[in-house]
Amino acid sequence: MTERPGSSAGRERASLPNRASTTVRSGGSVDGWAMARALSLAAGALGRTSPNPAVGAVIVDGSGIVVGEGATRAYGQAHAEPVALAMAGGRARDATLYVTLEPCSHHGRTPPCADAVVAAGVTRVVVSTLDPNPRVAGRGIARLREAGVSVEVGLGAGVARTLMAGFATWIATQRPHVIAKFAASLDGRIATRTGESRWISGPEARRWAHGVRDHVDAILVGAGTVRADDPALTSRTPHLGQPVAEGEEADPLLDRVVPSRPAVAATHADAARQPLRVVLDTQLTMPLTSQLASGRLPGATLVVGVDDGTADWASRRASLARGGVEVASVGPGVDGRPAVAAVLDLLGARGVTTLLVEGGATVHEAFFRAGLVDRVAAVLAPMVIGGGHPAVGTAASGPDHLSGASRLQGRSVTLLGEDVLVTGWVRRPAWLDDAARG
Ligand SMILES: NC(=O)c1ccc[n+]([C@@H]2O[C@H](COP(=O)([O-])OP(=O)(O)OC[C@H]3O[C@@H](n4cnc5c(N)ncnc54)[C@H](OP(=O)(O)O)[C@@H]3O)[C@@H](O)[C@H]2O)c1
Repeated sequence: MTERPGSSAGRERASLPNRASTTVRSGGSVDGWAMARALSLAAGALGRTSPNPAVGAVIVDGSGIVVGEGATRAYGQAHAEPVALAMAGGRARDATLYVTLEPCSHHGRTPPCADAVVAAGVTRVVVSTLDPNPRVAGRGIARLREAGVSVEVGLGAGVARTLMAGFATWIATQRPHVIAKFAASLDGRIATRTGESRWISGPEARRWAHGVRDHVDAILVGAGTVRADDPALTSRTPHLGQPVAEGEEADPLLDRVVPSRPAVAATHADAARQPLRVVLDTQLTMPLTSQLASGRLPGATLVVGVDDGTADWASRRASLARGGVEVASVGPGVDGRPAVAAVLDLLGARGVTTLLVEGGATVHEAFFRAGLVDRVAAVLAPMVIGGGHPAVGTAASGPDHLSGASRLQGRSVTLLGEDVLVTGWVRRPAWLDDAARG
């Protein structure tokens, strides 16, 4: 498969992000175009590579023709560079590799990518960002330079680092990056006083929410949401890559609407892949008739409670297990419920790097109170409920003063049909802004 950026024909052209194509036609640089393509490939692999980072790679030969491209495959399988190199074959010689993370230099489950790049005869490598793992950062670059390869670092670094927020958090803490997501009315309610919440948001926002689910490793709710809504917590949006335009700094995970048609072909998509579903349920009292306990949903469900050592708990655990549900116990917090920090430790140990908390007010409050929310994605619908369930906590809980509120940094505001999506960081990892990392 070959494609000269800016040409009007070719199989590859059909799968290019529209805005990137426009930029090329208006004279954009090959570097900018090719890195935008690599970032799109990385975004398309989100949620399928953990605990490895989702990385994209594009190889362009001396006449500006794309000769290979790829994204990280499932954990234990190939990284992005070998996928792109295999496609390029001998055409990688003297070519330029665009890659969203520095090639690895260590033997893990796969051999070092930097060695493969050198062996293929690539002479120039353009890297978005160094590895967030301080023990690794810079070594892949050094290895390439030692072999005489020209290396430039920094193109597309903002998007690349945002895409790797989960990986960077997991590397630093062995816990997942936590995104609190809810759909609320303008008066901040996520359900009526009777618990009705379907549907506060409109179809575009719901499609966006399914797209986000498709790109995270796990989704978490509390037993209250299971009782009230009987959710399936599956992603019903087919796996779509998120196109990244040249020079763009938006967050391809949260800040955009999932396109209704694939804008970027998923190179290794597993349509049946589902995020892990996690339910916090102290005493395992969620209904056995719920969808999550039915054993009929694709993917896995994990219920986390606090084992009190009673025969009742063991019996409820066995009942859930019969429905294909895995049950785990962690230590209690001060309220006797599973301590959310321990839940994150448990999920981190299973390689979950990004967790979407879709809970009701009780679960959201637990994560905010523990200071464990990294990002917020709030869909605000143009309606006023006038009472009912707040998005987080209760009228009687929370800080006394606004100084105790979680103010978001790096905010974005996007229209999703009639609804407004507001995203922002509660805790922005320093790694995202650390210019020294290139
Ligand atoms: N609009 C939206 O975006 C949205 C999203 C989700 C839910 N909702 C609505 O929210 C309402 C349900 O609210 P909710 O607050 O009951 O739901 P929730 O926060 O999902 O579940 C709360 C329950 O989770 C269990 N839990 C276990 N460990 C916990 C922990 N560490 N911290 C907090 N809770 C823990 C508790 O029950 P145990 O003590 O028995 O374990 C608790 O009562 C429903 O009306 C639903 O429709 C709306």
